[in-house]
Amino acid sequence: MNRLMLIAASILAVPTFSVQGQAADKASTASAGKHVYDHWCAPCHAAGGAHHPGTGALAFKYKGENIPAALEQRTDLTPDVIKTFVRNGVSVMPMFRKTEISDAQLDALAAYLSHQPVKSPATTRKAKRPPA
Ligand code: HEC
Repeated sequence: MNRLMLIAASILAVPTFSVQGQAADKASTASAGKHVYDHWCAPCHAAGGAHHPGTGALAFKYKGENIPAALEQRTDLTPDVIKTFVRNGVSVMPMFRKTEISDAQLDALAAYLSHQPVKSPATTRKAKRPPA
């Protein structure tokens, strides 16, 4: 009987834990995005062009324009643009698979680099582009 109550109690406890987990996920999205950036992107895109091929290439691409070469300093990147480059790659930048950067991690990364709040995955999937 005691064992049965323990099992029942642990089953009842599960929803409580997962709700707390979701709240914690949202609170840590910015740092999750920064974490993904530091791991996968910073080696090529950190400030200081000489040692970072992404920063060097973008400094060349935007020479004379008022666009910073380091991704973290940009304010013109939208989540869609970031996701497109990450999933497709460009030039020497590789594409990143979902096994490397999951959709949830990409959401957090795109929110971090675009300085926009992350949309919940459900919202992101249902979102439609405005008519052109
Ligand atoms: C192996 C180095 C490398 C890695 C790793 C890398 N990139 Fe890049 N990335 C580049 C290069 C080089 C370019 C510029 C290509 C060109 O000349 O247009 C670039 C371009 C971009 C652009 C286009 C910017 C623009 O204005 O044209 C975005 C956005 C971008 N990278 C995001 C990322 C993100 C986010 C990550 C991490 C998930 C990442 N990159 C990882 C090398 C890299």
